[in-house]
Amino acid sequence: MSTLYAHPEGHVFYRKMDYARPKISHGEGIYLYDEDGKRYIDGSGGPLVVNVGHGRSEIVEAITRQAQSAAYVHATMFTSEAIETYSNALAEIVPLEQPRFFYLSSGSEVVEGALKLARQIQMARGEPNRSIIICRSLSYHGMSLGALSVSGRPALRNPYLSMMQNMPHIRHPYPYRFPASGRELADRLEESILAYGPENVAGFIAEPISGASLGAVVPPDDYWPRVREICDQYGVLLIADEVLVGMGRTGTWWALNHWNVKPDILITSKGTAAGYFPLGFIAASNEDVDLVFRKLGDFNHGGTFSHHAVGAAAGLATLRILQCEKLVENAAELGPYVNKKLHHTFAHHPQIGDIRGRGLFWGLEIVQDRATKTPFPLKAKTAWHIAERAFELGLIIYYSQGCADGASGDVIMLGPPLTINKAQIDEIITILDQTITEIVG
Ligand SMILES: Cc1ncc(COP(=O)(O)O)c(C=O)c1O
Repeated sequence: MSTLYAHPEGHVFYRKMDYARPKISHGEGIYLYDEDGKRYIDGSGGPLVVNVGHGRSEIVEAITRQAQSAAYVHATMFTSEAIETYSNALAEIVPLEQPRFFYLSSGSEVVEGALKLARQIQMARGEPNRSIIICRSLSYHGMSLGALSVSGRPALRNPYLSMMQNMPHIRHPYPYRFPASGRELADRLEESILAYGPENVAGFIAEPISGASLGAVVPPDDYWPRVREICDQYGVLLIADEVLVGMGRTGTWWALNHWNVKPDILITSKGTAAGYFPLGFIAASNEDVDLVFRKLGDFNHGGTFSHHAVGAAAGLATLRILQCEKLVENAAELGPYVNKKLHHTFAHHPQIGDIRGRGLFWGLEIVQDRATKTPFPLKAKTAWHIAERAFELGLIIYYSQGCADGASGDVIMLGPPLTINKAQIDEIITILDQTITEIVG
């Protein structure tokens, strides 16, 4: 019988209710330690958050300095030096014309804000009917109802279908199970725009490299350039959800950089302040933001904790570490090494169907039968068992179920801090090999 709560005498409840959690003590670099002194390698940076590693005193000091001088002011009343300086630094790396930034606290929040911004840019352009956001099946954009409306994970959506907006979902790129050219896949966007009428479509939202739902799926090279062409042709705003793959995770600052494609709206969150503060931002060009200002007066959105100065201080300190330690370059350099190691270790493993990813974000799809790509039954909870055993062995990985058809299909993911080195990668892959062999043979 499982324990309902990790600490039955306590007052907390968590998403996973039958899992008894160890209590964390501290972290340093790629390692975490629980209160019993057990060491864990953070092989997934949490869910790809901790990109500069644990225990970074530079970030803690920046947070402390800002909190001491002015912990909180409301964004309708003040700006802060922290927000202005951070935005200037971000403007150097965000691929938008004179970008402007709107800050919130999480991935779901920046998705919600981006959907509203797309709508308001269209209104300001004199296109008041454009309110449809086209999105993709087997995608993930967050847990709030607006973000779920444009997500494609049945298990997360089903209980709330009656509470959500019905947005059109087009097929996601997935070379392993659906080998199609990028152009063919992108053309589904055009079909959808034409079916709903371009005059009704505000935007298209997608993850440049698929994250939590599919596990590090990289689209064919001709996908994103064609998507950009279609969006331009029909006046549809391209919203790049870089919440998980942004801030250097895949070896470039933004995953869309791999294809030299620029979005109209870029959003990111997880790695922005590396988990030291809940922070995300929406970026758009000055031209679009200025148009909203001139035509509508305000951006009709907000939040008590928007434009948080302490968040900006944490974000700037994180950005400086990424730049000074050349961590994006490290991710780019180590990507081929991880790829080679994973292939060397698992290429002939009968239960590893696919190995995919970029930079320091990799997914392994686990299958029952490699020849037919048959997934394990949903109830077997294979990915979960692998993640659980890895955890016992002191390795934290990220996992997901449903990649094959929305219900079954097991994928495990690696996304360690970008500070990692080759020896540490070897250590992770050795434990992973033992784990996979124990769980699926
Ligand atoms: C691509 C993407 N968008 C949005 C979100 C939602 O972020 P959050 O959990 O911070 O609300 C996630 C979370 O995994 C994500 O991967």
